[in-house]
Amino acid sequence: MDRKELIRQMKQQVGIAAAQRVQDGMIVGLGTGSTAAFAISELGRRQREEGLKILGVPTSFSAAVQAKQEGLELRTFDQIDQIDLAIDGADEVDPHKNLIKGGGAAHTLEKIVDGWADTFLVVVDESKLVEHLGAFPLPVEVLPVAVYAVMEQLTKLGGIPQIRLGVKKDGPVITDHGNFVLDVQFPNIPDPPKLEQTINNLPGVLENGLFVNLADEILIGRLQGETIEIISQV
Ligand code: A5P
Repeated sequence: MDRKELIRQMKQQVGIAAAQRVQDGMIVGLGTGSTAAFAISELGRRQREEGLKILGVPTSFSAAVQAKQEGLELRTFDQIDQIDLAIDGADEVDPHKNLIKGGGAAHTLEKIVDGWADTFLVVVDESKLVEHLGAFPLPVEVLPVAVYAVMEQLTKLGGIPQIRLGVKKDGPVITDHGNFVLDVQFPNIPDPPKLEQTINNLPGVLENGLFVNLADEILIGRLQGETIEIISQV
């Protein structure tokens, strides 16, 4: 099996394992990305085949579209008082359960939903585990009018910001909220909590992809010998 297919299978198995944690009647934050998508599919299957009844709170337009296709009932923030469990992927995970998210430009709403949930369960394959965050460029959602001012400030902080460009569309990626995303390469991120706060204090920044002290548990799909196993980091 090639590496790409192996990672796909690790994502699938960890997504399914997370969805197995969901109990009847729960309000569930529905994450964005290919790993969370496997969890959403499994929730749909459980609803159809096991009669599981849940309400979903999507973290992006794409999560909402998939959840609707699966027949899941969705709610917006004004319709709920709490979220029991959020299941979401990550681009990097460090040993302290700090994350980089936003590879799919959804990190602003993800941080609201995941942060509001009583339990935030992260689903990743083992390739996402790192000793130190920062090899993955940090996504920063920015108001379009402020993009050059923010780029200048991020450069002063030691980063190399690049405007994320569309695929099959000339020009910038536009987020679900109508903004741009900067992908910022830092040489290293020695203090994730400080950098998260510092970037979010820059005028024009909506949110950055550092998720510090938010994750309750990391479910990891990893290769053990010839088989994929699911382990938990709490
Ligand atoms: C979406 O903006 C991201 O935060 C995703 O959760 C993250 O990129 C993980 O994606 P995959 O599960 O597709 O690797």
